Amino acid sequence: MGQSATPHSSAPDLRVSLGPLHLANPVLTASGTFGYGLEFSDFLDLSRLGGIVVKGISLKPRPGNPPPRLAETPCGMLNAIGLENVGVERFLRDKLPPLRQRGAVIIVNILGNTVEEYAELASVLSGVSGIAALEINISCPNVKRGGMAFGTDPHMAAQVVAAVRARTSLPLITKLSPNVTSIAEIARAAHDAGSDILSCINTVSAMAVDPFSRRPKLANIVGGLSGPAIKPIALRCVYETVRAVSCPVIGIGGIQTAMDALEFLVVGASAVQVGTANLVHPRASLHILEGIEKFCRHQGIGAITDYIGTLDTACRFPFADESCSVEPPAREPV
Ligand SMILES: Cc1cc2nc3c(=O)[nH]c(=O)nc-3n(C[C@H](O)[C@H](O)[C@H](O)COP(=O)(O)O)c2cc1C
Repeated sequence: MGQSATPHSSAPDLRVSLGPLHLANPVLTASGTFGYGLEFSDFLDLSRLGGIVVKGISLKPRPGNPPPRLAETPCGMLNAIGLENVGVERFLRDKLPPLRQRGAVIIVNILGNTVEEYAELASVLSGVSGIAALEINISCPNVKRGGMAFGTDPHMAAQVVAAVRARTSLPLITKLSPNVTSIAEIARAAHDAGSDILSCINTVSAMAVDPFSRRPKLANIVGGLSGPAIKPIALRCVYETVRAVSCPVIGIGGIQTAMDALEFLVVGASAVQVGTANLVHPRASLHILEGIEKFCRHQGIGAITDYIGTLDTACRFPFADESCSVEPPAREPV
């Protein structure tokens, strides 16, 4: 690998297995940034992606928060959509069948106000063909009840996961919040309660203000920050989560390019989700997938699984060498 790599002429093997979930490649789209998938089907072949995670679904339809619910910041986006969605009944009737027809690997992101609502949703979705996995959203910062309250307390996180686990045999992904003191603690609780996979991160709690009107830019006052601004936070969260649990992890946060995605993979994410980048460019996820493939060819990586989790953390500064004193070695005059 690295500079001495010999380019590969054959196509790299991009398949990844995340516990019980087997994907053709590690590029997925992130919930809430890709609609129900269908909105993007004129721009790209949905079956090319590793999978798509649809907008968060609740038992009943939700109108979301009052506007304004979006604000741009210098290197990220602030939103307080409040989990607006059509509800599970309309999802199953109107959205899922055409999505299935397009050959997409479909992961349904679920949310509820109570533990029982999550469990009931899991049960309803379980018997439906064409759903590859469920992603439990216990990390939304923009709703008053449920949402992040479940994701910031390890006991509540475990309760939600265990209740969902009891009602489905589908592969379970639990989506973690960065808005916690120890993501490792929540990760362990969710994994121990039966989550097969963890995904991180959801948006970072944040705020924007207009100094002229002296008003917050969002009606909700506080919202969730996404996009390039949060990538370093997300990478740190993935790094800590990968070290805390033995289950696969999906990296999310500020991924705009193949190089961004590769950073997450090398840190140990088995797959990535592309979020806000979809709103900048509808084909972003496909470009990222093609970029990863090109990188593998160029670097002589035959299978992406050989690259995942190969972060080298050995310190190579001279002062880390035991033979060095505190004083740096004298330099030759130039
Ligand atoms: C407009 C918008 C809506 C979102 N809706 C959801 C949602 O319904 N469920 C969820 O788990 N995450 C939701 N998210 C969070 C994203 O899936 C993702 O975790 C986050 O945006 C960080 O990734 P990014 O920086 O690539 O956008 C939403 C994000 C945005 C920007």
